[in-house]
Amino acid sequence: MIDEKILCDLRKEIENAEMSEKRRRHTLAVEDMAVRLGELYAPESLDVLRAAALLHDITKEYTAEEHIAILIGHGILPRDIDIFAPKTLHAQTAALLIPEKYAESATPEVISAVRWHTTGHAGMTVCEKLIYLADYIDETRKFPDCVKLREMFWSAEPQKMNEKEKEAHLRRVLIESYKMTVTALLDEGCPISPDTVDALNELIIEERKNENGRKD
Ligand SMILES: [Fe+2]
Ligand SMILES: [Fe+2]
Repeated sequence: MIDEKILCDLRKEIENAEMSEKRRRHTLAVEDMAVRLGELYAPESLDVLRAAALLHDITKEYTAEEHIAILIGHGILPRDIDIFAPKTLHAQTAALLIPEKYAESATPEVISAVRWHTTGHAGMTVCEKLIYLADYIDETRKFPDCVKLREMFWSAEPQKMNEKEKEAHLRRVLIESYKMTVTALLDEGCPISPDTVDALNELIIEERKNENGRKD
């Protein structure tokens, strides 16, 4: 459990951290969205979601050289996929730096939610899924895919759904988000992380099993 004082101190630290105004606003908006999603899907983990949201982009504005130096400094050899899909590097480096820079918030749940917030992976926890989605649909996002996904999520009124419906709704929104991500990456000539492919395949298989269950 990360207590309220630690979270308030963390927010102050992030408000004063060295990052662009845009990044700061995005980070605080991700915290808001993570809480809104958490109230629906993981009310017992709001502390994890708030800390992970505040920490998810702490290295987003580092240069490629800085990211690579952090990986190597932690004994990790950067893979080609990291170098040619550079937007994913900051999730790895943030997860590596959290225990060193923000030890009070460095629970395994927070670190894993930060680690997987860009690519996702197979077998994601609820907190990992919610931080991934909160990052995609926070209220500061104006990119058409983000606006579309935010509308898709909230216009279905998940607040009125039962647990099973909510779970299926989250899965469909995540599938849509991965489809958008994969399409955008291919359009930019970037490779797709195998973790993203695994995450998407798993969700599609779950969805198909669910459809078959409904037909039986
Ligand atoms: Fe990020
Ligand atoms: Fe972000």
